[in-house]
Amino acid sequence: TELDPFVLTLFGATGDLAKRKLFPALYGLYRNSLLPARFAVIGTGRQQLTSAEFRQAVRESVESYSRMKIDSEANWAAFVERFDYRAVDIKNLDAFSGLLSLVVDKESQFDLPGNRMFYLSIAPELFGQVSTNLRESGMTENKGWKRLVIEKPFGHDYRTAVELNEQIKQTFAEEEIYRIDHYLGKTMVQNIEVIRFANSLFEPLWNNLHIDNIQITASETVGVEERAAYYESSGALRDMVQNHLLQMVMMVCMEPPSRLVNEAIRDEKVKVLRSLRRFQEDEVHANMVRGQYAAGSMRGQSVPGYSEENGVSPQSSTETFVGGRLYIDNFRWAGVPIFIRTGKRLPEKSTEIIIQFKTMPKHIYFNRKGDLRPNLLVIRVNPSEGISLVLNAKGNSADDMQVLPIAMDYCNNCEFDSPEAYETLIHDAIQGDSTFFTRWDEVALAWKFVDPIRRAWDKDEHPIPTYPAGTWGPERLNDLLAESETHWWRVQ
Ligand code: BG6
Repeated sequence: TELDPFVLTLFGATGDLAKRKLFPALYGLYRNSLLPARFAVIGTGRQQLTSAEFRQAVRESVESYSRMKIDSEANWAAFVERFDYRAVDIKNLDAFSGLLSLVVDKESQFDLPGNRMFYLSIAPELFGQVSTNLRESGMTENKGWKRLVIEKPFGHDYRTAVELNEQIKQTFAEEEIYRIDHYLGKTMVQNIEVIRFANSLFEPLWNNLHIDNIQITASETVGVEERAAYYESSGALRDMVQNHLLQMVMMVCMEPPSRLVNEAIRDEKVKVLRSLRRFQEDEVHANMVRGQYAAGSMRGQSVPGYSEENGVSPQSSTETFVGGRLYIDNFRWAGVPIFIRTGKRLPEKSTEIIIQFKTMPKHIYFNRKGDLRPNLLVIRVNPSEGISLVLNAKGNSADDMQVLPIAMDYCNNCEFDSPEAYETLIHDAIQGDSTFFTRWDEVALAWKFVDPIRRAWDKDEHPIPTYPAGTWGPERLNDLLAESETHWWRVQ
C-alpha cells in the first residue's frame, strides 16, 4: 500500500537518540523505498542551528551510525532537502506558533496533505508540555491524521504515568499515541510470535506440562556512560525491566491472538500482565535480586565501579542489575518460573530467551554423569539473531551409549543485515500500525508490577549488594534458579 505523505516534527533533534538512531533509521527507510514519496522532516531543539548546519549534522549521523553508506551525492541531496530546523523553547507557546508556520510552509512546498507526526525524543518531564502546546498553538487542528510518537520512560511510577497520560489525552486519542519500546522493533522479538504460532512443533508444548522454566537475559557490557543524571533516578528496574523485559515476557507468554491485528495482539499481551504475579513488598526479597557494579575488569581492562562514575553519588544505591523469578498465574503458565536478569557491566552484550523443556524420564538414557540434559529452545535477539534448538543424540564412539546434547542452529543475521528496530517502528508509525507499540494498559500494569519492588528496595536499609564489573551479577540470583533445580544455560 502507498504510504501517506506527512511531516515529521522531531523534538530533540540535536540529541543523542536522533543522532545515533533516528536519522540513520530514516535514511535506511529512504534507501529501501519505505518512506512515502513526499515527506518533510522538521528538527527542533534548544540550540540555534541554520538549516545547512542541521543538514550537516544529519549527514554526520548517517555517516557514523547508519548501516547503509551514502551511495550518491544526488540521492543524498534529494533526501536531505526535506530536512529543516527550527529552534524551539518547549515552554514557550509562541515558539509553537512559529513552528506551525514552518510546518505549513513545508506542507505547501512539498505538496503534503496535512498528515502530521510528532516525535518526542526529549527529557520526559517535557512530554506533557509539548503535547499541550501542540494543541494550544493549533498545530493539531490539521486536515490529515496526527500521531504522537513518544520515547520512554512513560512516567516514573504508576501515579506519574497516569498524570502524563491524562495530559497527553487532552490532545491525542489513544489510537494516535505510539509509545516506543524499541525492543518491540527488534526482528527476533517480532519473530517470537511467528516461531510460536506458525510452527506446529512448538505450540502444543508451550505450557506448564512441557516447559520447566523460561530464562530471559538482557546483558550489557557498557557502564552508565554519560547518562548518570537520568540513570540515578531510574536504575535498571525502571530502565529495562518495566519495559523491555516485561515486553519479552508478554511476547513469550501471550495466548494466540484471534487475528494478526494490533488490538487483538495487544489484548493478548496485556492479559499476560494481568496474570503476572505482583509481589507484595515483603515478598520482594525472596523473588527479586538487585545489584550495583563495583570496580572490576572487562576484557583485561580495569573499569571503575558505578559509585565512582561521573555524576554518580558515592553513596548511590541505584541498581545497575536486576534479576528475578516471575510467575504468570494463569492456566497455561501456573508453576513455571520465569527467570529474568539484566544489567550493565556484565561479561557480554547479549539478549536471549531460553525455553527449558521438561526432561524425559531418566531411566533409559543418561550420560555418564547421570544427568540427561533438557531440550532447550534458544531465541537469540541481539547481537546475534537466531534460534538454537538443543536436542539429545547418541555419542560418537563405537561403544558409546552416552547421550550428548547437540544444537540445531539458525542464524538470522549471518548473511544479511536485519533492519534496525527504529526503522521498523518508524515505518509502522507511518503506516498507522501500533501493534509493536505499548498501549496504555500495558504501561499501567507494568508500573503496578514494578512499584512495590521499587518501594521495597527504597526502604531496604541494607547496603545494595555489589558485583564486580565483568561478572554476572550477585550470586543470590543463582540460588533462586537452584531452588527450581536449574541454572542459567549458556548455549554458544
Ligand atoms: C535503553 C536503555 O532503553 O535500552 C539503555 O535506556 C540500554 O540503558 C538500552 O542500554 C539497551 O538497548 P539495546 O537495543 O542495546 O539492547
